[in-house]
Amino acid sequence: MKIEVLTIFPEFFREVFDFGIIRRARRAEIVGINVYDLRDFATGKHRTTDDRPFGGGDGMVFKPEPIFNAVEKILGTTEREKYPPRTRVVLLTPQGKVLKQALAKELADEVENLVLICGRYEGVDERVNEVLVTDEISIGDYVLSGGEPAAIVLVDALVRLLPNALGSETSAANDSFSNGLLDFPHYTQPRDFRGLTVPEILLSGNHAEIEKWRRQKALEKTQKVRQDLLNKENG
Ligand code: ADE
Repeated sequence: MKIEVLTIFPEFFREVFDFGIIRRARRAEIVGINVYDLRDFATGKHRTTDDRPFGGGDGMVFKPEPIFNAVEKILGTTEREKYPPRTRVVLLTPQGKVLKQALAKELADEVENLVLICGRYEGVDERVNEVLVTDEISIGDYVLSGGEPAAIVLVDALVRLLPNALGSETSAANDSFSNGLLDFPHYTQPRDFRGLTVPEILLSGNHAEIEKWRRQKALEKTQKVRQDLLNKENG
């Protein structure tokens, strides 16, 4: 998968993609990530990327031109119908569809070229949405000061789902949410830590019983903190 990030704060991404699973996946060429400074695609003496909103109101709005120029450079066109196959252009915005594991999985499975536009200020000129964007995605019902942290969250959630990105193929299948439940509790050495002991069942070697216990714990945890997940409509 190729991921292209458009931002006015490229420095924001300087090191985040250089750790752990993302770093490994980049090195193994499972994913390629490029970060572009939108200012480099702005024209005019001051290379401004934003301006005041028509109709008045607070704040500034991202101008369409730098974003159109960047998408044209990256995808060779600004016509959605002519994008290369398996391309998505995503605007990170609180107005988007909320990111869930199922959406991350869909993108990991279906997308080859992913362009992420990090919004800022009060918003992005709507013509970007009308013409370029295939998906608007929010990472949750709260407002960030920009799409950058959201892009990082999306990239992380996606990359770990790409084939061979994780050491063991089963790790992602066992993640929270992939079976509709939160994860079960984990324990490691020592068996007794300051008088806090590990549940006996985990030391029993009885794998069928351990599976049952884990499923029960996952269910209890989900019931306690995320009742909504047990409601199928929300799955
Ligand atoms: N930009 C600002 N808030 C956001 C959110 N919750 N998700 C994605 N992008 C955002």
